[in-house]
Amino acid sequence: MPHIPVIAIDGPSASGKGTVAQRVAETLGFHYLDSGAIYRLTALAALQQGVLWSDEDAVTSVAQYLDVVFDGDQILLAGQNVTTAIRSEEIGSGASQIAALPKVRIALLARQQAFAKAPGLVADGRDMGSVVFPDAKLKVFLTASAAARAERRFKQLQARGEAADLAVITADLEARDARDRARSVAPLAQTEGALLLDTTELTADAAVEQVLAWWQGR
Ligand code: DC
Repeated sequence: MPHIPVIAIDGPSASGKGTVAQRVAETLGFHYLDSGAIYRLTALAALQQGVLWSDEDAVTSVAQYLDVVFDGDQILLAGQNVTTAIRSEEIGSGASQIAALPKVRIALLARQQAFAKAPGLVADGRDMGSVVFPDAKLKVFLTASAAARAERRFKQLQARGEAADLAVITADLEARDARDRARSVAPLAQTEGALLLDTTELTADAAVEQVLAWWQGR
């Protein structure tokens, strides 16, 4: 891993970091890691196996034996296509709960680091710059106001034809942010050396341009 260039993009839910990270990766021809998907997959696998999200040892075991294949933009869990299933609000909430368990985070560490391959990696999540890739050449903390993020999530759900209630989404986002920030291990925070990118007033294009400009400026 030492010589592989990594761009770490961290930030809260629905800040747009996934879109930005994916597009930066495409532009540079780098690999892409959606680390949130790994927490979501663990939550879904636990649910399917009848393991409670609060049972740290049992969820850790689920995390260790997770049978996942990333095939382009499709994700297979034990051979089953779960690309859409892991995006539900229920699994998002489960992911946030299991992500607060220290042993689960340790169990998922090597799996995330294995994504760092030539010619480079763009990784998005909560602790990419602080824990998983502390030597990342560029660290970005990408955020937006809670209202802007709730609005984006609301539009995404509507576009997918799912029932959406802005007040419920806002409350859920705030609860998830609070849990992600307050947990004892790898809390969501702007790590030292990370550049702040507030996308409240920015288009995705402008955010991508900014990250690429920072990268070229390194
Ligand atoms: O980015 P997301 O909404 O897909 O992430 C789902 C949950 O996973 C989120 O509530 C926090 C957790 N997570 C984490 O703790 N660390 C990461 N690197 C990525 C996600």
